[in-house]
Amino acid sequence: MNSVIYREHILDHYKNPQNFGIVECADIIHKESNPLCGDEIEISAKIKNNKLADIKFRGHGCAISQAAASIMTENLKGKPMEEIMRFSREDMMNLLAIQISAMRMKCALLARHVLNKALLKNLNEKNNENHKRMKKELQNE
Ligand code: FES
Repeated sequence: MNSVIYREHILDHYKNPQNFGIVECADIIHKESNPLCGDEIEISAKIKNNKLADIKFRGHGCAISQAAASIMTENLKGKPMEEIMRFSREDMMNLLAIQISAMRMKCALLARHVLNKALLKNLNEKNNENHKRMKKELQNE
């Protein structure tokens, strides 16, 4: 795929977001905004049999932040929680697959940031290496 197709992929997700809304009786939920612009994303999810059975987002913001949330939820839905906990900044950037300037980095990573906060807030943190790593990462963001 060339860069034009990648950009179209982002615009397509922005115009037709996947998994937009809220998960009823969610096990994890968190809302946060980008402090630089006030744009906002809320992530809600249901966990079943140690898998991310359902995940949705809602909010408002620029094309990159909203498309990133759509692409992320599409990609993570149904995956084992162990994999969800390891979903990194690099994984998010690979999913977006476009060049992101330093100024737009917060836009690109907002959805993942909110997901991590939701996981940290709602999941058991007993001796969990992923939990410790996520906490450390969030402190540096
Ligand atoms: Fe606000 Fe991108 S400009 S999240």
